[in-house]
Order: sequence, then structure tokens, then C-alpha cells
Amino acid sequence: MCGIVGYIGKQKDVRSALDSLKRLEYRGYDSAGLAAFIPERKEILWKRALGRIQELERSLEGVSAQGSPILLHTRWSTHGAPTEANAHPHADCKENIFVVHNGIIENYRQLKEKLLAKGHRFLSETDTEVLPHLIEHFFSASARIAANRQGNLEEAVRKALALVQGSYGIAVIAKDDPEKIVAARLSSPLVISVNDSGGFVASDPAALLSYSNKMVFLDDGEIAVITPQEFRVSDLKNNLKEKEVTELAWTAEEAQKGGYPHFMLKEIMEQPESIANALRGRLLPEEGRAKLGGLEPVAERLRSLDRLQIIACGTAFYAGRTGEYMLEEYAGIPCEVDIASEFRYRKPVLSKQTATLFISQSGETADTLAALKEVKEKGGLTLGIVNVVGSSIARELEAGIYNHAGPEIGVASTKAFTSQLVLLVLLTLFLGRQRDVSLVMGQRIAKELSRLPELVARVLEQAPRVKEIADKYKDCQNFLYIGRKYNYSVASEGALKLKEISYVHAEGYGAGEMKHGPIALIDEEFPTLAIAPSDSVYEKMVSNIHEIKARRGPVVAIATEGNEDIKNVADNVIYIPKTLEMLTPILSVVPLQLFAYYMGVLKGYDVDKPRNLAKSVTVE
Ligand code: AGP
Repeated sequence: MCGIVGYIGKQKDVRSALDSLKRLEYRGYDSAGLAAFIPERKEILWKRALGRIQELERSLEGVSAQGSPILLHTRWSTHGAPTEANAHPHADCKENIFVVHNGIIENYRQLKEKLLAKGHRFLSETDTEVLPHLIEHFFSASARIAANRQGNLEEAVRKALALVQGSYGIAVIAKDDPEKIVAARLSSPLVISVNDSGGFVASDPAALLSYSNKMVFLDDGEIAVITPQEFRVSDLKNNLKEKEVTELAWTAEEAQKGGYPHFMLKEIMEQPESIANALRGRLLPEEGRAKLGGLEPVAERLRSLDRLQIIACGTAFYAGRTGEYMLEEYAGIPCEVDIASEFRYRKPVLSKQTATLFISQSGETADTLAALKEVKEKGGLTLGIVNVVGSSIARELEAGIYNHAGPEIGVASTKAFTSQLVLLVLLTLFLGRQRDVSLVMGQRIAKELSRLPELVARVLEQAPRVKEIADKYKDCQNFLYIGRKYNYSVASEGALKLKEISYVHAEGYGAGEMKHGPIALIDEEFPTLAIAPSDSVYEKMVSNIHEIKARRGPVVAIATEGNEDIKNVADNVIYIPKTLEMLTPILSVVPLQLFAYYMGVLKGYDVDKPRNLAKSVTVE
């Protein structure tokens, strides 16, 4: 996710436009930039800075910055590390066209090769930079045939986007046509407002609410031309589109949370989108394969892999422990999973055919980073699954896969966890197809993966039922979470969520361990959340539930849609859709995330910033 603001109008103070951008800093904050047309000089003021928006503001000190139109951007890196050169806006060779972008241009490599062959010069490693060059190509072509030699910016954008595959929310200005902003949307949100202050476009309403609460939301495939007085929306074929104006009753802070009361709930609810982003451009359904560009440099070495160590902390560790089952069952690779704080003090045995996979949302966790450096010291092959592009761990790795989950603001990790599981399935498919996974099985896995956003959305529809169940058990002081096989670590993750957010004691256990101690805890005040999808260990889970019921313990079961029998055993049932056993953890964790969230809210705690915790544990 990135933050975009475009403004055109009489208020030409670039600094006030920065205030709007600051309301979008939660969407990305590794670098920022602006481009403003300065009428007196007929030039574009182009400023970019590494770090937060205040660094960009600092770069304007002593600069007379009165201009319009203005484009502003705060970045969440996906392609290209956070550097000034990779910061948006990006420009073409003549610095005529300037573009800010939120999304991923999947075919940027192919487009870049063609543009380079035409003599275009690139300054960044980003996917976005192909856009200004493409637009300039068509803008110049339209100028050559126009009677007044004036290029047509809207037509140039339309023609450029016809060549683009992927997702975009863009805003574009041209030095040679400074009377308008052209914006376009495909999968990444854009909202427009034309009011007394002028014309605006932004990636979410939070940036515009201080000017007006009347907004127009662009839909996929639409292009808008915005002037200080009006806007016009058309589709990619230039058919005019009538758009309704939405009146928002949100404060700017509510808008940052997408209208949800907390970032944690917003991030739970955006998992269909974050999972779609994790999959975007990485599935080859016909070949039943995963395309993981970040692993290409070591793909051949991975063929001779004979052991994989997975190292992480907290939620990321539970993702890794789930990945162990996938990789062993489908790729036949022996795995060992350890928490980084233990691994770094052990004496790990590494062979030339051992790889170590580090999983980290923030990419800054001190123990994980230290363990990574330890493995590098010994010459081991280091791989990673990281969400924050250009983070310390990402920069240390030999190869890796980015989550593309966008910033995760809530301290309790939710969308990052399901995104990590999706990437572990993609890694399993990648390695499995190098080994024994057949074309047919690969196609089946790829097909089921592509259904996940829709399946997760179906689980999220049950949020009101989960809230009722949380209300029923809100006064209990202890909970047990149990699961088996692919859902064993989901039990641990569910317990961690409850501990973190509601400060209630919870234990996550492999259900087979009940008789080895935990069942002594059970009584009517000690509820159990039992993850019991209709899978290869379902009957075992039902036996465990019976054991608990025999001791009057309340049970909330997570079960597969259509399983009516479980209602005769458990006190409450939350259903998840049927899917491949390997994919069930991505669905079964969602009710547990919601349960923890509602318990924390019911207890009146700050679920986005729970006590004693930080989003990134950069100290040991
Ligand atoms: C999870 O909800 C916690 N915030 C915490 O356990 C977290 O998963 C752990 O600190 C690892 O963080 P990382 O993924 O950024 O390395």
C-alpha cells in the first residue's frame, strides 16, 4: 500500500498539500516525494526523500514552493529497496510526465526492456517507472499529430495502461499540459473530490476529509480527468461514466482505518486482499507451478536441498512450524523449525545442502536478524519471507519472497500470518514441482490457492457470530486452544492472539497432548477452542472434544461447512469452507483472530497497541 495525493487549484502552497499526505503515512513510510508545476518558471519542482514525510518537508526548507498541479506520494516498497531514486513520483527522460503509483505492474520487466530498446533511460529499480516513459511515448506521439502540437495527456495515459498488467492506482501530471491531473484505477483504491479548494485525488478519503466529506470513488478500469472546477470519468475505451457522490460521515482517523474502529480489525478484514496480493503474479495454474522471482537466483541450488531449517519468532514462528508439514508432505524435504532466540545460541549443523528460511513481518526482529548473521557466517544458504521491503533482514538474505501485504499497523500480527502461510504454500509448490509433486497435484494446489481470497471472505462473514461467542466467554480467565497437524500451530497462534490482545491466559497445544497433562486444567470455567476441520485427523479431534466435554469443559469448535454432527459435541461451532488440508490453517486462524479482537474490545483494551508490546522487537 502507498499513499497518493494529487491537487490542482488556486491554493498553490505545496506545504499545505503535505498535510494531506501525512494523513496517509500509515499506508507506507519508507520514502516520500512530490512534483509540483511552478507556473512562473513553467517547470516541475521535483523533490524526493528517504524516510518519513518530515524528511521531505525538510528538503523544502528555503525553497519557494508555490505550484499546481501537485502530486505527492508516501511509499511502501514492493519492487526496489527504499532509496531516494526509487521514491515516487517517477518521471520520463524529459521530466515532462510525472507519475505516482500504488500497486504492482506485473509485466514491468517486459515493458522496461522494450522502452530501453527505444532509448529510454531509467533511474530506478521500481516497476512504477515504466509508466511515465510509456505515457511520454504516447504523449509525444499525440503532440506530433495535433494541430496545436499539444499532447493529449488523457489519451496517452489510456494507451499506456492498455499495455499494463497488474494493479494500479495512479495520478499523472505533465509539464507540457499543466491544466489537469489524470488518474486511473485498477485494483488499488482512488477517491476524487472537487470542492471550493480545488480538485483532489487520493488513495483514501483520510487525505481529503479536511477539505470536504463529499467523495467520488473510482472503480476498476476507470480514468478521471481532474481540474480545479470539475472532473470527468471514463472507461478505458473512453466511454463517459456517470459517478455518484458519496457523503462520508467519517473523521480522518476513521478513514485511515477504512471505517473500522481499529487497525487490527481493518487488517483482519483486508486478508482477502492481502492474500490476493501475495498470490498476484506468482501462480502458473496451467503448469501447476509457483513463479517466485526472488528465488530464481538460487533455484538450481534448491534442487539439491536435503534439509530446510526455518527460523522465526512469535507468530512468524507458528507460520514456519505450519510450513514444516507442507514441505515434508509435498516436497519431501526434512524440516527443522526453531525460535530464533534459541537457534542463535545452539550449534546448528549445516551441510552444503542445508538452507535456512527466515520468516519476519517487520524484517527487523533482533533475534531473527542475529540468527541470520550466524548462518551467513557459516556460509549457509539463507532464504526469507519478509513483508517490509528493504528491511535489515531482507537486505541480509541471499534470496527471498516479499509478502506484499502492505503495512501491518496493529501490534498483533494477523494479515502477515496468513500471508506467510500462503507464501509457504507457494514455496512448497515451487520446491515440490522440482521433486515429486505431479502436474495434476500442482494444478490442484494452484487452483485451490486462487480460491483463497473468496474462501477467507466467507469466513469473515461470520464475524458477528464470533463476537457473540466472545461475549459468552468474556469473563473466563483461562483458555485452551487445541489442534492437530496443519492446525497444531494455529492453536498456538490463536492462543498468542488472545494473550496479546486481551491479557487472558491461553495455551496452544497439540490435541494429542491432552492426556499428557493439559486435561487436568479442564472444568466449566476453562473453555477450549478446538480446531477440527474435516481432515485426516478429524476423528482424533472429535475424541479430544469428547474428553473435554466429559469433564464439563466448554468447547468452541472450528469445523468445516456442512458438518452438522459437530453441533452434537461442541457448545459453539464456527464454520470454515472446505479446502485442501494444507490450506485449512489459512482459514481456521481467522475466527481465532476475530475472537481475540472481540475479547480485547469487550475488555476495553487498546487492541492496536497492547500493553508491554511493540510492533517490531528490535531488541533481544
Ligand atoms: C505477533 O502478533 C507478535 N506481534 C509477535 O509475536 C511477532 O510475531 C514477533 O515479534 C515476530 O515479529 P516479525 O514477524 O516482525 O519478525
